[in-house]
Order: sequence, then C-alpha cells, then structure tokens
Amino acid sequence: MNLTLKIWRQKDAQSQGKIVDYPISGIEEDMSFLEMLDVLNEELITKGEEPVVFDHDCREGICGACSLQINGQPHGPDRLITVCQLHMRSFKDGDTIFIEPFRAKAFPVIKDLMIDRSAFDRIQQAGGYISVNTSGNTVDANAIPIEKEKADDAFAAATCIGCGACVAACKNASAMLFTSAKVSQFALLPQGQVEASNRVLAMVNQMDEEGFGNCTNTGACEIECPKGISLENIARMNREYMKASMKG
Ligand code: SF4
Ligand code: FES
Repeated sequence: MNLTLKIWRQKDAQSQGKIVDYPISGIEEDMSFLEMLDVLNEELITKGEEPVVFDHDCREGICGACSLQINGQPHGPDRLITVCQLHMRSFKDGDTIFIEPFRAKAFPVIKDLMIDRSAFDRIQQAGGYISVNTSGNTVDANAIPIEKEKADDAFAAATCIGCGACVAACKNASAMLFTSAKVSQFALLPQGQVEASNRVLAMVNQMDEEGFGNCTNTGACEIECPKGISLENIARMNREYMKASMKG
C-alpha cells in the first residue's frame, strides 16, 4: 500500500504544533498500525530526520499507552480495539491518514503524539484502592460470597485500561467514564464498602481539579472505549456520590 500520513508534530507542550505530510510506501495489510509507524520512523532516522514520538508499551491491548486519534477517532476506525490492535487492512491503498494526539486540556502534549496522562494516575491515587489488613489475619477474598451479576459487573468495570479515549471522544473532555469505572470496580464489591464514601468524593474532586469537563450524556465515550466500559458506571458513580454527599 502507498499512503499519505498527515502527522501532528509538536516539540513540547509550550510550542505550537502543526500537521506534517509523510508519503509512505510498501506498507502491508498485515502490519499493525504501530508497525507502520515503526517503518516511517526507520525511514526518518535513515534520512537523519527526527522520528515521530508516539506512546506504546504492551502492543497487545492491555496497557492503554497507545493513545492516537486516527482520522478524528480515538484508537481509529474499528470498535473495541486499541491502536496497537489496529491493522493496516482497515485502510486501503492511496488513503490519506490523519494521526494526532488525544486532545484535552488535562492531557498536555509531551512531544508529537505523546501526551501526559498523569492526571488519571492522580485520580486513581485519590481513592482507587482498598485498604487490606495484611497482619496475618487476612480473610481469603473467595471466602466472601458475591452475587454473580455483581462480580461480573465489577470485573467489567475493572477492564478499563486508562487509555483516555473516553476523554478524547468527549466534546467536554470529561473523564467521567474512566473515573466511574475505577469507582464501580470497588463500589460493587463488599471489600470496597468500608472506604466507599471517601473514595467517590475524593476521586470526583480530583477529577474536577485536573480540569476535565462535565458529562452531558452524549455517550461518545462508551462508543469509542476499546474495552466497552458501559455508561451504567457513570450512573452508578453519580448515585454513590449523592449517597456520600448526603452522609456529610
Ligand atoms: S473508560 Fe475506556 S476509554 Fe476510558 S480510559 Fe477506560 S478503557 Fe480507556
Ligand atoms: S500499546 Fe498497550 S494497549 Fe496499545
């Protein structure tokens, strides 16, 4: 395949960025999207030019690092996959492909296509954990009976990989889907009840402090989420927040 790549290049968060055109040829349909970028970077390095910086780690859909906006869509045109799972067979010979970083005020560009998502880490650190007594009297988690439906919902919420596509897809750059998944995975389980009130208040507070926008129920986050995290988690987080606020 011969393609034209239109890639966002930006030196750092302070500099202004711009789209730069890169014609590329010899791309095979079985290559992954990131392998295609690897080919481009090898060519740039050979020519003595600066390679395009992009984020990646596992390359198998589990770390959430590969945050790219492809032709205006977070993680590209296919549903329920990350960029690293996207293959070039989803494109055709002669295509022009726009590649940009996820855009949100709370996700500043580090360089080119790489963004700083540490705001998500700070939301998680604010309450996305449970305190467990490890003094030797720890109760085996399997000794506590949990309804199958709740266990399934908690597991589904826990599959959020913190990629940030929900924020990039949202016209308000809201982080509600991410935060609600992290709240829900504990709110649904007995182990999460002890710190439930503090957790939801602290995580929502941190989310607001980081500068993410509000949810207006557009639903773009759910559509673009590579893990299919449901909007039901946002409704659950709102209920948890109301309950915690009323407790004082
Ligand atoms: S909710 Fe989905 S889109 Fe948002 S961070 Fe988690 S996995 Fe990514
Ligand atoms: S590189 Fe880990 S999810 Fe894509």
